[in-house]
Amino acid sequence: MLEGKLVNLRVMEKEDLPLFAEWINKPEFFGEYNPLRQISRTEIEKDYEKSTLELTGFIIEKKDGSKIGYICQFILVHPAGKLLEIGYSLAPSERGKGNGTEAVEIMVDYLFLSKDIMRVQACTDTRNLASQKVLEKTGFKKEGTMRKCLFVGGQLRDACLYSVLREEWKEPKILTKLARNTCGK
Ligand SMILES: CC(C)(COP(=O)(O)OP(=O)(O)OC[C@H]1O[C@@H](n2cnc3c(N)ncnc32)[C@H](O)[C@@H]1OP(=O)(O)O)[C@@H](O)C(=O)NCCC(=O)NCCS
Repeated sequence: MLEGKLVNLRVMEKEDLPLFAEWINKPEFFGEYNPLRQISRTEIEKDYEKSTLELTGFIIEKKDGSKIGYICQFILVHPAGKLLEIGYSLAPSERGKGNGTEAVEIMVDYLFLSKDIMRVQACTDTRNLASQKVLEKTGFKKEGTMRKCLFVGGQLRDACLYSVLREEWKEPKILTKLARNTCGK
């Protein structure tokens, strides 16, 4: 369990899959700036069974244990090498309260503390101001616009590519105790 002040991140377990399937199949869960998806629970379970460590999903929980969203890391294979990307979504009633920013901060701390990586990236529809604000508050920088790369609402849309480099992150913002453990202090 990765603990923050507002939320905790807990690795997704098989028992979480029914709720995850419910979220994925509700168009409002991903909002108006993400592709519409309908996936059966059977497909989600199959995907979970065969998932490798290249894709790790975490449930975002409030301090009272209620499940309010998810955040994941996945590897994109690119001619330049493997790129580590994150994606996230919160239940509509839990947005605008700082939960998204803290979940991304925890994830970035976790990734730089646990993996020998140079960068973490994220991609979001250019109209998705909430997501861009979350990334900027967490220290991500906008690298540019990928033109017509997302299919959303029946149209191809532009997306912003953001990244944070290890040297920009510098030190953990939330997982400070874990960082001390890592160094053996
Ligand atoms: C994107 C998302 C995760 C943001 O999480 P959140 O908990 O709502 O964001 P926070 O409360 O941490 O807010 C971060 C900042 O964004 C701002 N913000 C929130 N909603 C906004 C909106 N609709 N438009 C503009 N700014 C917004 C907040 O005011 C805050 O800035 P501030 O601290 O300067 O006031 C959440 O809105 C969500 O789940 N959206 C649907 C799925 C999605 O788009 N996922 C991202 C895919 S790339």
